[in-house]
Amino acid sequence: MSTSIAEHFASDHDQIIRILRSYFKTRGNPEENIQIIKNLNWIIDRHFYLEEKVLVQYLELDPYRNFTLLIRFYSEHNEILNLNAKIRKNLEYDPLFTINPAITELQNLVVLHKNFEMENFYYRMDEVLSLDERRVILKSLDISAKSGFYPMVKIRESAKVLFASNPELLKIL
Ligand SMILES: [Fe+2]
Ligand SMILES: [Fe+2]
Repeated sequence: MSTSIAEHFASDHDQIIRILRSYFKTRGNPEENIQIIKNLNWIIDRHFYLEEKVLVQYLELDPYRNFTLLIRFYSEHNEILNLNAKIRKNLEYDPLFTINPAITELQNLVVLHKNFEMENFYYRMDEVLSLDERRVILKSLDISAKSGFYPMVKIRESAKVLFASNPELLKIL
């Protein structure tokens, strides 16, 4: 089993992009679309929660030295989560057409966010953390993922404590 946190999260990214592509292949099948979107929402919620958990609990990033990185990381998470909520809401009215532009927007955002994370953030996780730490994290990620419980609000509360000295950052958490 790989001991790379980066690889663990990168495989989620691949899965999210695969699901988004599959949405456009099911043209004309509302029931299938609903299932795809529900699955997508679930995986994005889980991915963001676990990613933010690792960031807050293990990376101990300085909120001033890493300000630009953190602002972009959290803003894009907020943007993607808001778009997800919008898609979920519109899905009830018109599962076939209303959400298509939002899905394309989501797809573009996810690709941008994934590239940003791969270049600026993921490599640090494997570099900064020891092999033992990475093993502990991967085990705990596995347990959290299986629980199916992703309380984003809780993890944001911890982030607020950690980044309390930076008011600009607090505003977007
Ligand atoms: Fe992310
Ligand atoms: Fe990610």
